[in-house]
Amino acid sequence: MDTITLSDRLLPPLFSQGITKEEWESKRRRELLSLFRDAVYGNVPDEQSLQVSYRVADQQEGSSIMSGNALRKSIEVTVSRNGLSHSFAFVLFIPLGKKHPVPTMLTLCNRGIADADPSRSFLSSFWPAETIVSQGFAAAVVLTSDIAPDYDEGFSLGLHKLFPEYKKERPSNLWGALGAWAWALSRILDYLLADPLLDPEKIGVVGHSRGGKAALWCAAQDTRFALAVSSCSGCTGAALSRGKGGEHIKDITERFPYWFCKNYRHYADNEGKLPVDQHMLLALLAPRLVYVSSKTNDAWADPQSEFASCVAASEAYRLFGTMGIEEESMPRPEHPLLGGRIGYHLKTGYHDMDAYDWERYLQFAKRHLE
Ligand code: GCU
Repeated sequence: MDTITLSDRLLPPLFSQGITKEEWESKRRRELLSLFRDAVYGNVPDEQSLQVSYRVADQQEGSSIMSGNALRKSIEVTVSRNGLSHSFAFVLFIPLGKKHPVPTMLTLCNRGIADADPSRSFLSSFWPAETIVSQGFAAAVVLTSDIAPDYDEGFSLGLHKLFPEYKKERPSNLWGALGAWAWALSRILDYLLADPLLDPEKIGVVGHSRGGKAALWCAAQDTRFALAVSSCSGCTGAALSRGKGGEHIKDITERFPYWFCKNYRHYADNEGKLPVDQHMLLALLAPRLVYVSSKTNDAWADPQSEFASCVAASEAYRLFGTMGIEEESMPRPEHPLLGGRIGYHLKTGYHDMDAYDWERYLQFAKRHLE
């Protein structure tokens, strides 16, 4: 397949020539984070006022839980502010009979409960918890809709209800649903980091599509995540916005205005004015691990623009003396690139996250985390 040409895309530069990795860490990284906060994903409102507590609502092991191969915990997270509170739950399967502490994959599930079923009555390939556990990883999952609803509710439900002062008018640089999902993933991470059965250095965050956008945004901000995995995240996820096919900023801000801060809509049909592009989001993870996967029949997400972003972000990895993506030519379907610290594959199929994808994510994680 063709080598990716980046010059046509007129991307804003990741950094100026001659920058050191120290300057990147102390200055440029922060600048990019604030640009993404102010123009795209929004700022977390009044973060210091939020109090978080955890309650183990259920903990079980035995033959009924993955045939005795895992411990299952359901944890309720409660976030409070000024007398208001919102709770959401996440589920965690920890492999038994393995050497602890183990690495963990935390998945943000943007589908219904059947795709993240704690009882394991439904064995969805979207979140194959048995496979994850059998490969020695703990598998955690949370539903987007439990954190903040995935529809325009006027900022009155989920985590947003803790901020009644913004119900009438949300300031233009304040978070939307994606920002809330990403923030909640970091609160789950706070809990996972304290669990002695889990390795704090080896926790990854995984998401598909809108969930992939949030997973990348979360790990871009939160350097405690060792790995971020994006499946078909497309527009405002892994894919470059400049020169993108399929969905554009205009489409996404018209249909899902509540995902982003209000400022983002100013870049509809105006990508060239956006102070960032999505290669910068991937670069914010450098030198940590990122994995991007695409499907051949997902023109709306645009695999070419997702891969091009991996190529452009690799410059930040070179600052650290490491390799981002290992090849600059778009790989053929079913030819994963697993050797660099940015992994990538294109798989034949439609917009989905499936067993093939998970096998590659786990293979990549094992290869680089061990
Ligand atoms: C829509 C949206 C995409 C999003 C996708 C999904 O198609 O336009 O941006 O990624 O939903 O989350 O499945």
